[in-house]
Amino acid sequence: MRPVRNALRLTLPPIIAILLLAVVAGLAASRAVRAWNTSELTMRARLAGSSARELLVDAESRGDRAQVARVLRDIVRDDRVLAAALCTSDSTPIASTVAFPAIAMRCGATGPRDGGSGELRSLVVLPEDGLAPMHVSWVSLTDTTAQGGRIRLVVAQDYAHVLERERLAGLWALGILGLLTGLIVVLTVLSARMTSSGWLRELNRALRGERVPGVPPSPLLEDVRVLVQRQAAARAALEEGHDGRWTRDRLRQSMADLLEEDGLIIVANREPYIHHRRDDGQVEVRHPASGLVSALEPVMRTCSGVWIAHGSGSADRETCDDHGRLAVPPGEGSYTLRRVWMTDEEESGYYYGFANEGLWPLCHLAYARPVFRASDWAHYRLINERFADAVVAEASVDDPIVLVQDYHFALAPRMIRQRLPRATIITFWHIPFPNAERFGICPWREELLEGLLGSSIVGFHTQGHCNQFLEAVDTFVESRIDRVEQAVVKGGVATLVRPYPISVEWPISALETVPPTDESRREVFAELGLGDDAILGVGVDRLDYTKGLEERIEAVERLLERRPDLIGRFTFVQLAAPSRVRIPRYKEITDAVEDGVRRINERFGTETYRPVILLRQHHEPDRVYRFYRAAHLCYVSSLHDGMNLVSKEFIAARDDEHGVLVLSQFAGAAHELPDALIVNPYDLEEASGALERAVEMTPSEQGERMRAMRAVVAERNVYRWAGRMLLDASQLRQRARRSLQMSSDFESATT
Ligand code: F6P
Repeated sequence: MRPVRNALRLTLPPIIAILLLAVVAGLAASRAVRAWNTSELTMRARLAGSSARELLVDAESRGDRAQVARVLRDIVRDDRVLAAALCTSDSTPIASTVAFPAIAMRCGATGPRDGGSGELRSLVVLPEDGLAPMHVSWVSLTDTTAQGGRIRLVVAQDYAHVLERERLAGLWALGILGLLTGLIVVLTVLSARMTSSGWLRELNRALRGERVPGVPPSPLLEDVRVLVQRQAAARAALEEGHDGRWTRDRLRQSMADLLEEDGLIIVANREPYIHHRRDDGQVEVRHPASGLVSALEPVMRTCSGVWIAHGSGSADRETCDDHGRLAVPPGEGSYTLRRVWMTDEEESGYYYGFANEGLWPLCHLAYARPVFRASDWAHYRLINERFADAVVAEASVDDPIVLVQDYHFALAPRMIRQRLPRATIITFWHIPFPNAERFGICPWREELLEGLLGSSIVGFHTQGHCNQFLEAVDTFVESRIDRVEQAVVKGGVATLVRPYPISVEWPISALETVPPTDESRREVFAELGLGDDAILGVGVDRLDYTKGLEERIEAVERLLERRPDLIGRFTFVQLAAPSRVRIPRYKEITDAVEDGVRRINERFGTETYRPVILLRQHHEPDRVYRFYRAAHLCYVSSLHDGMNLVSKEFIAARDDEHGVLVLSQFAGAAHELPDALIVNPYDLEEASGALERAVEMTPSEQGERMRAMRAVVAERNVYRWAGRMLLDASQLRQRARRSLQMSSDFESATT
């Protein structure tokens, strides 16, 4: 019913207009046909008069009535002529054909003059007393007769055919316009459907918060997307209640209820504290440039437990006990760091090889070719076994909660399950998950999926990545996908697949020691040698080819081309931490970034001005936060990113509610932060346009956007990420405990 109603609403006004037009056109056509036919009849009467004039005048003057009658009969031989008569000027009949209607004689006398000559009068007589409609013409034949008076020929012609033609013309006009109306209605509905189906598809995508890579959404749909996301955030906030926001304390309390005495066990390759021996012989503690670490560390400080990681620092062995354990954070000791050792060769195969030359490019759409070596795979298996063994060693109960982190450990969940069947294993994949076709190129695709399915829950940042994982499982693993529960059931055991968008702690504890915006800006500007009126953009990344660093420099270059007035005023500082340096592709990206920086600085720089400043070294968190606070804008240009926590850290740092975030649409964070300026980093016009917009943005618009983004990040903080995962895990544990209880009750009842 609905489509019909919609079509009617759309087409009714034009239908009414066209129908009115049809009526008017029908009437006009009838009138035209009548006028044309009437004048034809008048002309025929005139012709009859002029051809019979001589004969009739002569016969009448001679009193030859027989001749008059003959001539009149000749005139009525024409099919259209009904009757003819000769009469005097006062309408006294002289002679007529048979059944000449008297009415014709009367009317002829009063008919209108033709052309004002008085030669011809004619009019139409409509049916009367059973007579057919007729056209009567009264034609003067002489000025004087033999008796000294005028004589006139009266011709009565059939008028019914004129009326019939008139009726048909009206009907045709109505019919044709009616047909046109129908055609227009059908075409309107079809074209509206066709246009609206594309639009509706786009609208649906906007409502789901999706984007088509490479296709800029229309401004209207972009507004819809922003609106929907804001509403969703508001609804979520309402559902959880104002006091229901996840905080450190709430997470701690939930964990106490859930875990009783035991803490969490986290398996993650990167350790949160790296002990490094400096050239001067001193040992320093470094915090790695890792989104994973900055997200998980506050969770561990809150929940306590054990973090099992690769001991990669040059002074790591000497700073822990014989079992590789030490209490962290240094001086605080909220949880245990358990270091796992590996040889150089093992690290090469497991970390550099399979994890970062194989899985990393496999999962990121950044156009780097994955490399799969059997020797790397063997090391990957070996190290996953080693971490699984470490979990068993660290577990104080037979059903611990284990959080397995990232693509380094796809096999570990199954291995842990084999060793601790009652463990609750939550695996979180921090990077994008590719579609089945792409994933299928990995020679060990089945083993990887089977390994992950050892988990109780597998989590991703977005629903899209959950869907791609389910699609890959469906394609390569014998199992059943439960679409309602969003789970994979294999051998009677279910693995839930859920989106948990990761985030930062709120508020960020490291910010406590960072000076406010003005002071941070003064310090950073002084360090970089910038004038007070300088405009500063910032980027903070590992030197990785997925981060779009080349494109970022090109966007700055394009900005300065578009806006030469910014040369000398706009500076972009890139904090770049060296990463995975043994891998050739990382060496290439480092060279490419340095070349790009050199090029732009040679082109636009002076002795005192560098448009791009590259700080290629490790930066500790409090320094990074100073740069976030000092900058006017932050540009995150990832070509593909699971979430990207730099964007959320920048927002968290901006408690002055100013600063603009320019964010790649290919970072998971773009789904949650519609108030950033969202760009396609490959599109230099769009990206440089957004940078220009950020430079120009009024403080009030900055405030509006920043407040909205801060509300989202405050709400969706990392305690919520961990809390939601752990609550789901707790439900699974309760269910498992209930079924265990039931089977032991059953056993004791039957023995
Ligand atoms: O983004 C993927 C990831 O492994 C994160 O989990 C981590 O923050 C980052 O890369 C750092 O990588 P790496 O530990 O190899 O230095």
